[in-house]
Parts: sequence; C-alpha cells; structure tokens
Amino acid sequence: MEIIIKENEQLASEAAAKVVARLVREKPNAVLGLATGSTPLMLYKELVRLHQEEGLDFSQVSTFNLDEYIGLSPDHEQSYRRFMNKNLFNHINIEMDNTHVPDGMTDDIPGACAAYELAILDEGGIDLQVLGIGSDGHVGFNEPTSSFASRTRIKTLTQQTVADNARFFCDDESKVPNHCITMGIGTIMDAKMNVMLAFGEGKAAAVAATIEGAVTSMIPASVLQHHPTAKIFIDEGAASTLTLSDYYRWVYCGKPEWQKDL
Ligand code: F6R
Repeated sequence: MEIIIKENEQLASEAAAKVVARLVREKPNAVLGLATGSTPLMLYKELVRLHQEEGLDFSQVSTFNLDEYIGLSPDHEQSYRRFMNKNLFNHINIEMDNTHVPDGMTDDIPGACAAYELAILDEGGIDLQVLGIGSDGHVGFNEPTSSFASRTRIKTLTQQTVADNARFFCDDESKVPNHCITMGIGTIMDAKMNVMLAFGEGKAAAVAATIEGAVTSMIPASVLQHHPTAKIFIDEGAASTLTLSDYYRWVYCGKPEWQKDL
C-alpha cells in the first residue's frame, strides 16, 4: 500500500487525478472503475478541468461504476447514474455507450450482475479503480463480513450506511434504499490498480483499520493490503489516527517527482 497524506481534500484529489490522467494519456482506451458519494467529487472536478484546459482525452475510455441503489431509475435525483452524468460524464468527451453503471431497475438481478462481470472482462478488465470508504470500512457497498471472493451481486446496506447516506435523501433514512447492486471485493481486487480516497476525521478510524489493522472482512477495505498496487490518498483529518503517518510522509517526500503519479 502507498499512503499519500495531503494537507487537504483538494490537494489529495489533485494528486489522485494526476494518477488517473497519466494512465489515460499512456493508455487512451483505459478502463476506469468509478465511485460515487461525496469523496470523489473533487477528483472528478479536476478530471473535468484537465479535459477542458489541458485536453485530457476520454474519447476511448470506458468506465464501470462500483454500485447502484436497487429501485432507483437512472433519472432519479440520487441514482448513481445521474450522479456520474452530472459530475463527470456530461463534462468530458466520453462516449456515453462506454460508461457502465449497474442497473438498479433490472428485474433479473443475478443475470444483470453476471452480465456486468462479463462486460468488465470483455473490456480487458479494470485498469484503475477509484474507491471511497464507508465509515464502517466498506468499499463499493461491500459491507462488513462481505466475502473477499465476492463478485457483483445484491447487498443489503448496514443501518450505519443507511444513516450515513440519509444526508443525500433529505436526512430521511426511510428514503434510502436498503438494497444495492455492487461489484464484489473479488471484482475490485482484480483491478490492476486501486486508488482509494478518504477525507475528514469521520473516516479516520476506518482508514487506520484499513491501513494498519488486521486484514479482516469486518473492515472490507483492509483487503487492499493484499493488492499489489493500492494507493490511498487522504487528508490530515482522515490520517489523524494513523500510527505511522510520519513514515508515510517521509516515504512520499523522498520520491522523485516522476514517480509520484505512477
Ligand atoms: C459509492 C461507494 C461507497 C462510497 C462510501 C463513502 O460508489 O462505493 O463505498 O465510496 O460509502 O461515501 P462518501 O464518499 O459519500 O463518504
């Protein structure tokens, strides 16, 4: 794992965007795995800026999102398809047909999940997966005790996640769908690179458990300790309870510039 601690969310997001941009420049038909929620918003903003101001070209890129709520249609205000269109896809030159978000309205959930896995394989697998982390350590919507071998499937959100996400649904927990389709942990671990972002003290405990705790399905993100190329971009708040934070800073500062966005 590589831990990159930046002063604030903006600087951490810009550093993560450089990694994405470098991949897209080197591999124009890169396959990106994407996340939603508050965490990647500044990353997407920076990718939009890089496209508009520096010509970062997404015309051959394909994307697969981690998850979608079951029962929300693509045009629902809180659907992850709508989130992606609004915050990224509508502002870059990506082909909409190359963007994939699980279908929360499907009446064949197992079939749609299997097809999603196949579509990822057909594109040659995910080159870089963007991840946030839940306060309970989830990645995608793989809640605690999710199997490390899991693939795209239906999951039930924990009550903690429902409470956390109520802020997107007028603070009304009863409006948050309890079920979702999410890539599995096995799917995420197959990505060639994982880029996780986490900001704020509210994520500090989950981040410390992920990086410095035991690998356990109780903290699904901790599985990233077994991933060969996992980069964790965090701000000071999210880093606030790490035991070895001075070491991570020292490692990053000692890197030559060219290596920082590899
Ligand atoms: C969303 C996703 C989730 C979020 C996590 C953090 O696609 O996969 O794992 O990344 O719930 O959400 P925020 O960023 O809103 O704190």
